[in-house]
Formats: sequence, C-alpha cells, structure tokens
Amino acid sequence: MRLRVAIGADHGGFELKQELIRRLGQNVDVSDMGAHVYDAHDDYPDYVVPVGRSVARGEVDRGILICGSGVGACVAANKIAGVRACVCHDTYSAHQGVEHDDLNVLCLGARVVGVEVATELAVAFLMARFTGEERHLRRLEKVKALEVQPENTDRVEREAAPGESALTDEGIPAEDDEGAEDEQEEADDEEDEDEEEEGEEEGEDEEDDGDIDSEEDGGRKQ
Ligand code: RB5
Repeated sequence: MRLRVAIGADHGGFELKQELIRRLGQNVDVSDMGAHVYDAHDDYPDYVVPVGRSVARGEVDRGILICGSGVGACVAANKIAGVRACVCHDTYSAHQGVEHDDLNVLCLGARVVGVEVATELAVAFLMARFTGEERHLRRLEKVKALEVQPENTDRVEREAAPGESALTDEGIPAEDDEGAEDEQEEADDEEDEDEEEEGEEEGEDEEDDGDIDSEEDGGRKQ
C-alpha cells in the first residue's frame, strides 16, 4: 500500500507545495489540504489544522506543512494532540526524527530551502520508519503523557485550588516569586527613566524601526 501523506501550505509555502505534490505524487498518495489557490493574506493555522487532524486521526500516515519559515506551522501543529511536528532543514533530522521520535509531520520553510532540498528532506522523512526500540518507545510514552496532563493546558488561566499555590507563567509558585517580581518592576522603572532622559537629549528623532512590508502584499504584513 502506498504511503498516505497530507500536505498543506499558506501563501509562504504555496508554490513549493504545488511542486512537492507533483514530485511526491508519483510515489505516495498525496492529499492536498490547501491552500488551493494562492492568497497572499491567508493564515497558516487554516491549513495546519486539517493536516494535523488527519494525521492524528490516522487518516493519513504523515503530514507535510509548509509556510515561509516552517516555524508558525510547526508551533500550531504541535498544539494538536497526536501530532509530533518539527522543522527539519537537514536530512539527518528529517529521517532521525522519525526513527527515534516518531515524528509524523515535517514542517518546511519555503523561504529557507529551495525545491531540490525540500524534495530531499521530504523523501528522507517519508522513507524513514520509527525503530520501535525500547528506549525510543519509553521516551515517546513520556512525550505522549505530556498531552494529557491538565497542568500543561490550564496552568496560566486557572485559579489556585484550595491548599495549592498559584503558579506564575514560568511555573514558579506566585508567592515565591514576589521578590523577583518587585526586582523586575524596579529594573523596568529605572530603564524607563533612562529612556526618557535619552529621548530628551536626542530630541524627537523618530525613525521607522525597520518593519518592512513587501510590495506584493500591498503594504499589509504577511
Ligand atoms: C507568512 O508571511 C509567514 O509569516 C508564514 O508563512 C510563516 O513563515 C510563519 O511562520
């Protein structure tokens, strides 16, 4: 049976996706989960979700996600339980990630790698198989356990339960971290004061801070 592969890309990866579908489609069954037309303003999570879910449900064997850097797609994909996604721009990681870590979604950055390297990465990823060795299984089980620990999903928002310490975003009990918070506030205040003084000395020399929007997006950030 041919390997089933779901593929998705935003505008940053659209062209590369089309070419990979042409190339990989000769040897594997590729399901194109969009974008189906180029849209300079589309958002990668819209393609990450169908690809990730179809991998997690076992409807396909592997997923490939492409955006500009591969990063956004990877971050989003790893929010889906059952998905193990990584940006791999070297062939060693692309196959070893599968062999040791049971990587099931490869993320690529079309602004980072060209079509030839992307093809080699995809082939290395698709040809690789999880070894199933005891030590890798043991680690995989520990990774899977992270998906079902409630403290990993509601730590920031939830109120402390009776008798339990509230946690800071860093996972530090809030009362232990009060000193650090005070110190940070003092440091911030000092920094603000310094900046104000500098501003007075330098005058109102306002500059664009380098946020460059490309022509193709009509000035809107992509
Ligand atoms: C889109 O411009 C770009 O931000 C996106 O494709 C991706 O690179 C995000 O990580």
